[in-house]
Amino acid sequence: MNIREYLEQKREAVDRFLESVIPNAKTQPTTLHESIRYSLFAGGKRVRPILAIAAAEAIGPLSPATLPIASSLELIHTYSLIIDDLPAMDNDDYRRGKLTNHKVYGEALAILAGDALLTLAFELCSRRDLVDGLAPARQVQLIYELAVGSGNLGMVGGQVLDIQAENKDIDLVTLQNIHKHKTGMLIRAAVRMGAIVADARPEQLDRLTGYAEDIGLAFQIADDVLNVTGTREELGKNANTDAQRGKKTYPTFYGVDGAKALADQVRDRAMAHLDGFGPSAAPLRELARYITARKN
Ligand code: IPE
Ligand code: IPE
Ligand code: MG
Ligand code: MG
Repeated sequence: MNIREYLEQKREAVDRFLESVIPNAKTQPTTLHESIRYSLFAGGKRVRPILAIAAAEAIGPLSPATLPIASSLELIHTYSLIIDDLPAMDNDDYRRGKLTNHKVYGEALAILAGDALLTLAFELCSRRDLVDGLAPARQVQLIYELAVGSGNLGMVGGQVLDIQAENKDIDLVTLQNIHKHKTGMLIRAAVRMGAIVADARPEQLDRLTGYAEDIGLAFQIADDVLNVTGTREELGKNANTDAQRGKKTYPTFYGVDGAKALADQVRDRAMAHLDGFGPSAAPLRELARYITARKN
């Protein structure tokens, strides 16, 4: 399979779907919808929705609920980036190749756009017309996965640990725990939600969870490396910010080449969880390769 074509095709499907459910910029309050659309349609890679779709494909044929459920993850992710860039957090000026949301709309609107995106994610997972074919118990399970992946014991908890580690001499176990939560838990939720929509059996869900935990780590190690080696043009956000903020990352512990080698090792471990899945898991295998080889 051609991963570039696959990524482009799925990205377009997610974008078309989001365009169909996000109010246009003329909807009141217009500034809120402009601000939401500014960040959401700024050109993200859509990795989390694509992982959810690929996980569903690994289990069986796609159902109509797959796209709404997968896209809800992008709403959470975009909200988290808007908040992450605020002056009180990372104080970043560029994201997805454009000025950050608060630089354009001000901090109050950026916070409120984030709040609205977070809430909309749960609306998408429970809107009757979008997830009609799903049994109510399955819907509740999906909403639970999204909440756990995003919240205090998931992504938000990881963001807190990350901020508290700035300018501290943390050890590798602490760094792993930060990555596991701030990036890993939403990626884990993405894969699990895709598998759950497709009605995965418990042992399939367990194996895909193992895959997800490993690619979540590989994704963040690659992000740490790109922060050192990438440029603003490539990344669409400022480079070298981790060092400026006194953050210890994988390259701090292993060097750039060592961190790259470790990401590849974790990627291979991720792929081993897919043994026994056959050709339907080809997109998940290719996604694992893409996540560690990407340039942005
Ligand atoms: C960036 O995520 C923030 C991290 C969690 C490392 P992505 O690299 O998926 O960013 P976009 O969505 O493509 O902008
Ligand atoms: C962003 O992490 C992760 C979340 C928003 C959950 P970082 O702060 O490390 O990523 P960038 O460099 O801003 O994309
Ligand atoms: Mg941050
Ligand atoms: Mg940041």
